Amino acid sequence: MRCKKCKQTACFQIRRHNAAFCEEHFVEHLQNQVVRAIKKFKMFPRSEKILLAVSGGKDSLALWDMLVDIGYSVDGLYIDLGIPDYSDVSGQKTRNFAEARGLVLHEVSLSRAYGVDIGHIARKNKKPPCSVCGVLKRYVMNTVAERHGYFAVATGHNLDDEAAVLMGNVLNWQTEYLQRQSPLLEAKPGMARKVKPLFRLAERETAAYCVLRGIDYIMHECPMSEDATSFTYKEVLNRLESESPGSKDHFLLGFLRTAPQLFPQDPDDGPDLQACTRCGQLTTTGECGFCRQMARAGLDSLALFHSDTPQERDQHN
Ligand code: AMP
Ligand code: FES
Ligand code: ZN
Ligand code: ZN
Repeated sequence: MRCKKCKQTACFQIRRHNAAFCEEHFVEHLQNQVVRAIKKFKMFPRSEKILLAVSGGKDSLALWDMLVDIGYSVDGLYIDLGIPDYSDVSGQKTRNFAEARGLVLHEVSLSRAYGVDIGHIARKNKKPPCSVCGVLKRYVMNTVAERHGYFAVATGHNLDDEAAVLMGNVLNWQTEYLQRQSPLLEAKPGMARKVKPLFRLAERETAAYCVLRGIDYIMHECPMSEDATSFTYKEVLNRLESESPGSKDHFLLGFLRTAPQLFPQDPDDGPDLQACTRCGQLTTTGECGFCRQMARAGLDSLALFHSDTPQERDQHN
């Protein structure tokens, strides 16, 4: 196998693109895919600073590395969910990454603010940890982005994540979710602009990127994650992909091309919003979902942000 670009020996094959690359051109190819995604969906211009939610896993750390290397201005946000062992390791890997590159990292910590973990809040709400965790993460991302004036919030969702979500939404005809499944969600009152610049890259590509760039990431999945169905969808899609390379691309990118005709958006369409009586965040009900969730666990929602300590990291030589 020869590199498509320089004809040297290739180290990585991308079957769905019918191409192979040497190390240097593999990295360049992945970065080009990210730039293409950003430009195609007009996610954010180079002149604006964005906030990247970083979990310490391969996708978000690879994305941070790529965006900074390309020349975008990106600060990180790590949300410490207080999960024993897992959160300590993922937080440390994220901090190490930021420190080594002199990048700004915001940290919001459940355990530092309240001395509890996400499992405690889930039990008090009688809900699975992942659903409680999703509400908390969205709330924290919106609040930090708004307080610090970021243009957009980016996450590390990749092709495999997005294709699996699409499969679930189609199998269950979740039309409301299908309408909102896009790598770009425009800002709305109370909600930051959300972008997913990695949606064209497969999981194994971001993992290989981290290895090539010497990025140390947490390999374990969150131990609280119980979403077995999304693993099943990923497995099914992987089988399709290995029999017919390009299946995931066809499925996801085809949907994204068709979605605007299937679901025309009316900018005036949307529920009536009012300020949450507790925190002021816009919501459809008197008290927002996050404040209610925290109140059920006997916690003051406003105290969480006392631990948002953006830190300018010293530039590494
Ligand atoms: P996941 O749902 O765990 O696959 O994560 C999807 C994306 O959400 C990651 O790529 C990150 O951008 C973001 N994310 C997940 N967990 C955290 C966290 N603890 N702190 C900040 N961002 C996170
Ligand atoms: Fe949300 Fe594990 S990352 S419960
Ligand atoms: Zn090459
Ligand atoms: Zn609230």
